[in-house]
Amino acid sequence: MFKNTQDNQRLEDELDKNNIPDHVAIIMDGNGRWAQKRHLPRIAGHKRGMETVKTITKVASDLGVKVLTLYAFSTENWKRPHDEVSYLMGLPVKFFNDFVPDLIKNNVQVKVMGLIDQLPAQTQKAVNDAIKDTSQCTGMVLNFALNYGSRLDIRMAVQKISQQVADGQLDVDKIDDQTISDNLMTGFLGDLSDPDLLIRTSGEERISNFLLWQIAYSELVFTDVLWPDFDKSVFQKMILEYQHRDRRFGGIKTSKLAGLKLVNRGETN
Ligand code: FPP
Repeated sequence: MFKNTQDNQRLEDELDKNNIPDHVAIIMDGNGRWAQKRHLPRIAGHKRGMETVKTITKVASDLGVKVLTLYAFSTENWKRPHDEVSYLMGLPVKFFNDFVPDLIKNNVQVKVMGLIDQLPAQTQKAVNDAIKDTSQCTGMVLNFALNYGSRLDIRMAVQKISQQVADGQLDVDKIDDQTISDNLMTGFLGDLSDPDLLIRTSGEERISNFLLWQIAYSELVFTDVLWPDFDKSVFQKMILEYQHRDRRFGGIKTSKLAGLKLVNRGETN
């Protein structure tokens, strides 16, 4: 772990600025345990987690990440106690109230994917206002997964595609991977819809119904750090780990000396 300024500088120097992942997705986990360790109510962890979102948004944008997708509320999170769900639904209101001017200053565009129309009215308004207020920004896309579930995403894509077939707009034989990607909730991201790097915090190593189609070739990096403690140096360390991975997308490297040139022979690994 990088503990002091000198180590932070070393980490900064080690990062290859030409190999920053375009799309980073994060499962922000451990807010409850962070609070529990301090004998605080769980919502104190979410409040602190929201501050981490602000920090990491700025760091990612400064590094040149093009899309940052954050898993803020899953379709399964409704099962939590009512008070906690209410608090989580209020967080986007607070977050966007505080932070939209900074997002605009940093040229960050807000997007939200999930079943937005099922959210409380004031959450919907906060989200829609933030999307509108940052719509002219051309830098990083800050994409919140809110009331999102990947199986839901896939099911809805299947329904949309089926409808196009039923309406005679699409030939069944023409359905390919791109058709599916285009019809998922990340479709608006075009070429950037698949994360290059997926991070999960808090020591849990599972995907929890997040971007199941889109992470087919993502690098997965896990850290024991709880989300409220996640900071610039931990994030940089995750990116460094990504940079040390050998991404082959099912192909092989021609040789070590050939650098990143890929030959796709159809192997799957
Ligand atoms: C998982 O931790 C975290 C969540 C379900 C909520 C994540 C939300 C935030 C980080 C704040 C979002 C901010 C905005 C702006 C929407 P957990 O509660 O499951 O932690 P635990 O596993 O330790 O209990």
